[in-house]
Amino acid sequence: MPVEIEQFMCRSDNFGVLVHDPKSGETAIIDAPEEAPILAAIERTGWKPTMILTTHHHVDHVEANLALKERFKLRIVGPEAEKEKIPGIDETVGQGSVVHLGGERIDVIATPGHTAGHVSYHLPASKVAFTADTLFALGCGRLFECKPPVMYESLKKLAALPADTVIYCGHEYTLSNARFALTVDPTNSALRERAAKIEALRADNKATLPTTIGEELSTNPFLRWHDPAIRKHLGMEKASDADVFAEIRKRKDNF
Ligand SMILES: [Fe+2]
Repeated sequence: MPVEIEQFMCRSDNFGVLVHDPKSGETAIIDAPEEAPILAAIERTGWKPTMILTTHHHVDHVEANLALKERFKLRIVGPEAEKEKIPGIDETVGQGSVVHLGGERIDVIATPGHTAGHVSYHLPASKVAFTADTLFALGCGRLFECKPPVMYESLKKLAALPADTVIYCGHEYTLSNARFALTVDPTNSALRERAAKIEALRADNKATLPTTIGEELSTNPFLRWHDPAIRKHLGMEKASDADVFAEIRKRKDNF
């Protein structure tokens, strides 16, 4: 039985997510950006949280850790490389670690780039992954602690997940990502169609997430380093994939 998921907004543009395993009754909170909306989601669903899965140490992903731990006596899992900066952490993980939510297996994928210890969580049986600030819909996270080749390798790992994997991300940044994506990949008809849908969703104040790996592969320029039209547009036909990625990231930083 696949997990059930509740997605909601926190702070100004962070997503909060609850993941519920109906068989065992266990529930994970993916990052803890803000206490009140998480409590509201718990109330709404009736799911009692048993753990927090932390992706990285930024305050807008861990701020409610201690309050939720105190209230629910839950366990906090997060990246070994950032354990000093994650309040209340009980269990550390890294590339290849496995966590269980009831009978549901969660594979940890190290995805450094945005921060040096950032991890993503993949539930292969339910075909869902939580990529926080590594992979966004039509974008990727800013490189605060790593150089572009590190993020490129992380994105390559995520791009290799099955195309029908559903992706939940850390922020609602899709509209500005779409506007940027069109500047580097203007002739991509799938991207143009998606950008129009995103403009309409945001005009209605609706969430643009989740997405899928397949949708990102066809429209997200940060996964399309091999694409001939993008390479031509950038004048980088002969460059390495990692260099194409770095150039796109640099342009987005200045967008
Ligand atoms: Fe972050």
